Amino acid sequence: MKELKQAFQDQLGTDKPVDLFFAPGRVNLIGEHTDYNGGHVFPCALSVGTYAAAQKRKDTTIRLYSMNFPDLGVIEADIDNLNYIEEDDWANYPKGVIEIFRTAGYDITSGMDIAFYGNIPNGAGLSSSASIELVTAVILKEIYELSVNPVEMVKLSQQAENEFVGVNCGIMDQFAIGMGKKDHAILLNCDSLEYKHTPIDLSQHALIIANTNKRRGLADSKYNERREQCEEALSALQQKLSIHTLGDLTKAEFEEHKHLIEDSLARKRAKHAVYENRRTMEAVEKLNAGDIEGFGQLMNESHESLRDDYEVTGKELDALVEAAWGEGAVGSRMTGAGFGGCTISIVDRSQVETFMDKVGRKYYEQTGLEADFYKVEIGDGAKKIEGGS
Ligand code: GLA
Repeated sequence: MKELKQAFQDQLGTDKPVDLFFAPGRVNLIGEHTDYNGGHVFPCALSVGTYAAAQKRKDTTIRLYSMNFPDLGVIEADIDNLNYIEEDDWANYPKGVIEIFRTAGYDITSGMDIAFYGNIPNGAGLSSSASIELVTAVILKEIYELSVNPVEMVKLSQQAENEFVGVNCGIMDQFAIGMGKKDHAILLNCDSLEYKHTPIDLSQHALIIANTNKRRGLADSKYNERREQCEEALSALQQKLSIHTLGDLTKAEFEEHKHLIEDSLARKRAKHAVYENRRTMEAVEKLNAGDIEGFGQLMNESHESLRDDYEVTGKELDALVEAAWGEGAVGSRMTGAGFGGCTISIVDRSQVETFMDKVGRKYYEQTGLEADFYKVEIGDGAKKIEGGS
């Protein structure tokens, strides 16, 4: 915090008191590639995330600095002329959020200075980009005293990613980060946006994130391809069924009508979307009934479906998950978009150290890569943490 304030002073040159803000990263426990299919997800906010120090300016200049990318220096823009610029790199996220808020009619007429610092492992699929978006949204709300509710902030942040940055993501990441609650996961219906915070009792078990440290090459284009295949399957089903999303279907309804989807790949993708949605609802019921083993079993099935039907795992994620299964994890699966990134496992609390050690070793033998492990602490959603002005 002290260093962030110092960076703000050094780089953005003002010693007036600044306001401090925070937005977490997220990890999804179950419900993968269901958000843009109108299904359920079950993510939680992490205790790591993005910190920001911010102050309003009198002119129309925006100045952005990140302690994580010091070589890029201070990135400047004018509030009346905000465009996606490739060289601006990470700064396109805050710029996008500011632009989308303005387009939505929020009264932001003067510029601002913001310094950022993030401690989410880079490129690990724990949503560092949505974290920057939401911290920016909270900054805008607070320093311009906007009357905007948290769900609206979530939607505007997603819109910034879709329209300004050009990544066609669903709403899960922004929602988990905007609406997270300490020691709870969120069961979210991504179609209606109805949600429920569910307590996660970690007295007997630990949630362990393991990073494959595999670069997520081509992930965006493959992500978009999966979305298109699901849309194709939905249109085929809509010839006969009056459904609005794949999330509307039960497993039995899908099985009865799947022949309508001619393309076999699209049929497999849709199967995952339908089954994963139902699995997520069932998993949360099990958790609420205290059946952690049952929840873990469904996590394992989720991974198998992502591996075999959705085909977004790859050899590193599979190796890491299989090692976790072999070392007695209650449940283990890939988390996030896939094609690299992280796994999430439930592990008996007393076994955590041995688990990390043995799984790490097996993974290295299989892939030649070192995995990183983190014990999850479930934190709160995006918020102001200190008011200086
Ligand atoms: C990425 C996207 C999310 C979601 C997941 C897969 O994290 O940003 O919207 O689709 O992939 O569940």
